[in-house]
Amino acid sequence: MSKLVHAQWSSKMGFVLAATGSAVGLGNIWRFSYLVGDNGGAAFVLVYLACVAVVGLPVLVAEWLIGRRGQKNPINAMSELASKNGHPKAWALVGASGVVAAFLILSFYSVIGGWSLSYTLGSVIGTFTGQDADGVAATFDGLLGNPGLLLLWHTAFMVLVVWIVARGVTKGLESAARIMMPALVVLLLVLVGYGMTTGYFGETLAFMFRPDWSALSGDVVLAAMGQAFFTLSLGMGIMMAYGSYLGEDVKLLGTARTVIILDTGIALLAGLAIFPIVFANGLSASEGPGLIFVTLPLAFGNMTGGALLGLTFFLLLTFAALTSAISLLEPVVEFVEERTPFSRVMATLAGGMAVWVLGIAALMSFNIWPVPIMFGLNVFDFLDTFTSRILLPLTGLGAIVFVAWCLDRRSVADELNLSGGSEQLWHIVGRYVAPLGVLLVFINSLMG
Ligand code: PHE
Repeated sequence: MSKLVHAQWSSKMGFVLAATGSAVGLGNIWRFSYLVGDNGGAAFVLVYLACVAVVGLPVLVAEWLIGRRGQKNPINAMSELASKNGHPKAWALVGASGVVAAFLILSFYSVIGGWSLSYTLGSVIGTFTGQDADGVAATFDGLLGNPGLLLLWHTAFMVLVVWIVARGVTKGLESAARIMMPALVVLLLVLVGYGMTTGYFGETLAFMFRPDWSALSGDVVLAAMGQAFFTLSLGMGIMMAYGSYLGEDVKLLGTARTVIILDTGIALLAGLAIFPIVFANGLSASEGPGLIFVTLPLAFGNMTGGALLGLTFFLLLTFAALTSAISLLEPVVEFVEERTPFSRVMATLAGGMAVWVLGIAALMSFNIWPVPIMFGLNVFDFLDTFTSRILLPLTGLGAIVFVAWCLDRRSVADELNLSGGSEQLWHIVGRYVAPLGVLLVFINSLMG
């Protein structure tokens, strides 16, 4: 009996770890903080929190539910569920666009993962010890300006990802996440503590939570919504795929709440850690994608035990990036495996190669190829912006609309253990509030 209980516990726990491993990554620390800085602080943060609650939670639950019912990969799960419920198989498109998104995202994700690796090594050899703001900025600019070096780190990161996926050791990684994730939280707390000693913590709180609504624009709202999808790994079928491993006994709503609280909490902690350093050193909050790389080394370089803490931090960040990256490569590999005669290893190599090549174009945006290619954005910014602001929300929208409009309302209510008022609320949010919210954000930003 006790064995049974334990087995259940560990599978539920394993699921939460896998989902959190995908969700928590560079998005929470690197991307969240740079977007907060770029988009005027609190207005962005509050809209982001609203998007997570109103759109992120229902979409996450919808993706898991589809995955659990479909018991297949996202494309087949969608088409089978659709025809079973008397709807066109074209719903499979929702699953398919996820593969494209995963491919595009991983290409630039790996470039940043490479930065994180490079900073891990930098911490080992003491690059940042005693540096001032100018020194840290010069180190970062030196990395960005050197395509060969960026290529080296991007390659190293992709090799790690491909190696992990090809060997199928993702399970081991997930159990490692059990230790690494709390450790990352502890280190962020240490950094927040350091931020409190800078004398700029109050300013940080005001920057992050006291909104200046004049900073709000269609663009800021779109960025916030895109970040909600990105950080929760939504709109790509990844959570659907995870859902297919879910046991019937797992409570979707409660589990989604856990994952979302962890993910959002880590992002907020990252902000609270980074902005005191920005303000204390007179740096610019709107530094862009380099924000954490010109702020955190300053803290580590100037605090006691900073060398070791810095090393640990970038190691943990790289680890978090890896667990997200493998979840991004997985759908690409599955796709290649199913469509070609390639074995799993070959499919991983081929998929990884293709991602790697696109990543090279992305990394050249920082040096030899900074010119805009589309909508005034260079390759890197285009990949980052287009995927999060358009592809992910559209696909996520498909998932929630499908669950709320195409599946039997009663059976969904049963599956989510909802009744009465809370069922009404779920129904209204799923049918109207979340989809209309996404549409409004789109329309609003199209109108400038
Ligand atoms: N959620 C991950 C992060 O925040 C990135 C990711 C996006 C992973 C989409 C998988 C799918 O870093």
